[in-house]
Amino acid sequence: MKIRAAVLHDMELPKPYAESKPLKIETVELDPPQYGEVLLKIKAAGLCHSDLSVINGSRPRPMPMALGHEAAGEVVEVGEGVTDLKPGDHVVCSFVPSCGHCLPCQEGRPALCEPGAAVNNEGTLLSGERRLHLNDAVIHHHLGVSGFAEYAVVARNSLVKVDPEIPFDKVAIFGCAVMTGVGAVVNTARIQYGSTVAVVGLGGVGLSALLGAIGAGASRVIAVDINPGKLEFAKELGATDTFDSRNSDVISLVRSATHGGVDYAFETAGAVPAMEVAYGITRRGGTTVTTGLPHPTHQFSFPQVSLTAEERTIKGSYVGSCVPARDIPRFIELYKQGRLPVERLLTDKISLEQINEGFDRLARGEASRIVVTL
Ligand SMILES: NC(=O)c1ccc[n+]([C@@H]2O[C@H](COP(=O)([O-])OP(=O)(O)OC[C@H]3O[C@@H](n4cnc5c(N)ncnc54)[C@H](O)[C@@H]3O)[C@@H](O)[C@H]2O)c1
Ligand SMILES: [Zn+2]
Ligand SMILES: [Zn+2]
Repeated sequence: MKIRAAVLHDMELPKPYAESKPLKIETVELDPPQYGEVLLKIKAAGLCHSDLSVINGSRPRPMPMALGHEAAGEVVEVGEGVTDLKPGDHVVCSFVPSCGHCLPCQEGRPALCEPGAAVNNEGTLLSGERRLHLNDAVIHHHLGVSGFAEYAVVARNSLVKVDPEIPFDKVAIFGCAVMTGVGAVVNTARIQYGSTVAVVGLGGVGLSALLGAIGAGASRVIAVDINPGKLEFAKELGATDTFDSRNSDVISLVRSATHGGVDYAFETAGAVPAMEVAYGITRRGGTTVTTGLPHPTHQFSFPQVSLTAEERTIKGSYVGSCVPARDIPRFIELYKQGRLPVERLLTDKISLEQINEGFDRLARGEASRIVVTL
């Protein structure tokens, strides 16, 4: 079938993207779903920094690629072998398909699925195939989703069925920002009730982490960013303290405000300077968690002795260490009860045609979550 999709042909085009237009809205061919796959009508897809990182070349991927990975939609058709979804079901996409058989999958860590990581790097679905074409050329899938499009064919194992009462624009962000941010707090760090938390980088992921930390009973939730508007917004969401990390004294200011640092610091900016702040404001015996995905050549270094003598822990968190089919429904339930008000992170709804302008706003750090509605 013919569909409209936002396709990236060249990484590293100059900003502003409103002028260079890295994403072209093109009419492309989408093949029918095959064994284990599902055809979706995409209803909403959020703009995440991980899309921006492909556009700006920080996360190089094979080109051309149809971007978008934080998507929600309605099942239109199921391929052979898909017995537990039917047309009309509402689903959220997870950006790591899990095979269910590899060692990490068997250990209950589907975010680390080995075939899932391999196909995501290659830009295919879990089957190793691509279902998108433009004339005779194949188009790669982004993280098994390619959600900035009217329709998508995705692996069943990339999907979680969700409550149809939740509007698509709100439920879409559970697929990446919410799973990543809340999951980092409750799954990766498993913070303790009453503990002190800092979040460095207040985008969709960081603000989700902030809401997760409040919900999980952190006694102090410190928000850190380089954008004063984000600090103000974090305060409205319930941050107890805010610090501007453009201030060169930010580490000592947070340390003195917290009697030596926080129990848990989360780096959610995707930048080494943010990780340095997060590590610097973690207390003796504390844990620093990073969800950021900076360019693969960027190195974070720290004094080894601090790890030993202060019994520090540094942890990475991918997809919030979530089991999507378990955690997305749990987080949605908390949202429905008003205990995880992630709908407040939706700053803008835009059309597919406005997507390059949307990425300019994300790159300027102005947006919490911008969602394309279709
Ligand atoms: N681990 C995962 O599974 C996963 C999932 C989604 C996104 N990510 C990554 O998480 C990061 C954040 O994603 P997002 O969509 O929330 O990004 P975003 O662009 O919406 O937000 C990033 C925020 O960090 C702030 N920032 C930048 N440099 C900073 C610094 N030095 N100190 C403090 N704040 C700083 C920006 O002002 C902005 O508010 C990205 O690297 C993204 O690729 C990881
Ligand atoms: Zn994402
Ligand atoms: Zn697996």
